[in-house]
Amino acid sequence: MDSIIKGGTIVTAYEKYVADIGIKDGKIVTIGANLTSNGNTEVIDATGKLVMPGMIDGHVHLSLPFGGTVSADTWITGTRAAAAGGVTMLIDFAIQKPGDTLVETIRKRREEADGDVYIDYGLHGGIAKWTDDIKAEIGPMCRDGVTSFKMFMIYRNEGWLSTDPSIIAGLEETKKHGGMIQVHAESMDLIDSLQTAHHNEAEMKEHGAYLHTMTRPNATEFEAVQRAITWAEYTGGTLYFVHLSTKESADMVRQARKKGLNVIGETCPQYLYLDDEKFRGENGHLFGTCPQIKKPEDGEKLWEALDDQSLSVVGTDTCTFNTEQKALWKGDFTKIPFGMPGSELMLPLLYEGVSEGKINLHRMVEIGSTNPAKVFGMYPQKGALLPGSDADIVIFDPEKEMTVDYRDMETNCDWSPYQGKTMKGVASMTLLRGKIIAKDGKCVGGQGYGQFIKRGPSGNFVK
Ligand code: URP
Ligand code: ZN
Ligand code: ZN
Repeated sequence: MDSIIKGGTIVTAYEKYVADIGIKDGKIVTIGANLTSNGNTEVIDATGKLVMPGMIDGHVHLSLPFGGTVSADTWITGTRAAAAGGVTMLIDFAIQKPGDTLVETIRKRREEADGDVYIDYGLHGGIAKWTDDIKAEIGPMCRDGVTSFKMFMIYRNEGWLSTDPSIIAGLEETKKHGGMIQVHAESMDLIDSLQTAHHNEAEMKEHGAYLHTMTRPNATEFEAVQRAITWAEYTGGTLYFVHLSTKESADMVRQARKKGLNVIGETCPQYLYLDDEKFRGENGHLFGTCPQIKKPEDGEKLWEALDDQSLSVVGTDTCTFNTEQKALWKGDFTKIPFGMPGSELMLPLLYEGVSEGKINLHRMVEIGSTNPAKVFGMYPQKGALLPGSDADIVIFDPEKEMTVDYRDMETNCDWSPYQGKTMKGVASMTLLRGKIIAKDGKCVGGQGYGQFIKRGPSGNFVK
């Protein structure tokens, strides 16, 4: 064996027990008591620590041209940050420029990433304009390891807005090929009309960034989620809701799943921990994200939905903009570059939910690793601690405290939505395919060691 992780408490989505893990050629080869080493075996002492499958952040945007600028975490800094936080794989998006083929879009995105990434990565296709040619690419894409495709119900200005019939067609086509449509569900028409009503100097002066939240009430998500669920029922396709932010969405996904529809829901730490009071005050615009953060009650209901298996995945929607980029808003709430840093704090924030009794430890591993691996077609290569799985492992110290300070972090962001928050429980070591890539909050891996992961069918049933 190349290495043994000794004496840790193994925690998976299903089990918790003390054992050693033996690793060879990047894979877990054995799990058992008192594994013995030879002279060349590296022994990693995990006594008193939790040993879990590495987190999989299924929703990330690195170096994304968006909102008049480019997101600040690059393939280098974003994957270093993820590694430091205990994330061993992320899935980014290759969003089509209208007119470009999906094959070309994926090829270009891979060209940017390969050689830079510190952790493994996959790509979701992002469909800006549905055409017969794009339809014809879905089958080959799915056979070639890209099995999930995001379509947007907003972002007219970015050129990404899909029509309702095109999302219906997307659900029908992906269904034939073991694929899945991911939907950004917010109502463009409702947001347009609210923004028109409030986009005037007097209100911008009075409310500042708070107008962002005033023009995106829960109904803007509700209306879109409701429509998309109708399409899932009509087509029988698999529908994955990205970044759900409201209690109403949690309820609708719960009901849809009770009816037996193939509907899967994701939420993000910002909707669990932050609320729209953040938009008040001088730095309120920093928190601008899309959908925007809602009320504390929404956060509570989203936790409940994660716990009762109505929502199945937590991804971070990392889309980092630093203070200089956020300043592009210049007092106009419609011009905030939307997004925030995320992957590096994904695991400690999830563990905070365990400490607070919102979810149990197994559910944490399930929604942060095993479910993304299953739903995006990578299980049990990823998201599992089993003989034959990739040795993607986080060794987690549940007793260690940390206080968030962006200056100590790997992210390329000069602020943090959680600045000053003290949390108990941090990653002390991250291994990717058997190699140590982070220690004590710092990335020690190799640039380009990360690999592109071709995925199997998406949309597998997850609790
Ligand atoms: O504010 C966000 N979420 N920015 C990234 C783009 C998206 O919609 O996921
Ligand atoms: Zn989105
Ligand atoms: Zn996103």
